[in-house]
Amino acid sequence: MHKPTLILLMLAMAPAAGATTPAGQLAEFAAAARSESPGFKGFSAARGERLFSQKGSDWSCASCHTADPRAAGRHAVTGKAIEPFAPVANPKRFTDAAKTAKWFKRNCKDVFSRECTATEKGDLLTWLTSLNR
Ligand code: HEC
Repeated sequence: MHKPTLILLMLAMAPAAGATTPAGQLAEFAAAARSESPGFKGFSAARGERLFSQKGSDWSCASCHTADPRAAGRHAVTGKAIEPFAPVANPKRFTDAAKTAKWFKRNCKDVFSRECTATEKGDLLTWLTSLNR
């Protein structure tokens, strides 16, 4: 096949930016992590678990998403209910890349006063998706 045509075809078949599954989002974080840090060697569920309970400000991720992310959470300030964070307990989680990006940005800034790196997001999602019932 003519080369430019082939490239166009591949572009057309590539998934639209914004993965709709946790696995797809993980693949996107992996690509971002590789370009962020050339030494990237893969994600770690253990690092993700540590990040989740690590206190930055007065809060950690667990403050609102609870120590067990399979359980329903509660907003540390407003008291509003938050649906479970882990995909095994809440199939809607990590199925909308725009939503995921928005909340990673907001919550990492609230907790750590900075955005999380792609490696941190991938570590966290690796840990979350490793949880079973
Ligand atoms: C002050 C409360 C609070 C804290 C602390 C918090 N979150 Fe959240 N988080 C929320 C709320 C509220 C939502 C949006 C409602 C929902 O999706 O249930 C949310 C949603 C999310 C989502 C969207 C997931 C999806 O795709 O459905 C991600 C990602 C997330 N938080 C990551 C984090 C991380 C990482 C931390 C720790 C650095 C953290 N959150 C700490 C309240 C919090």
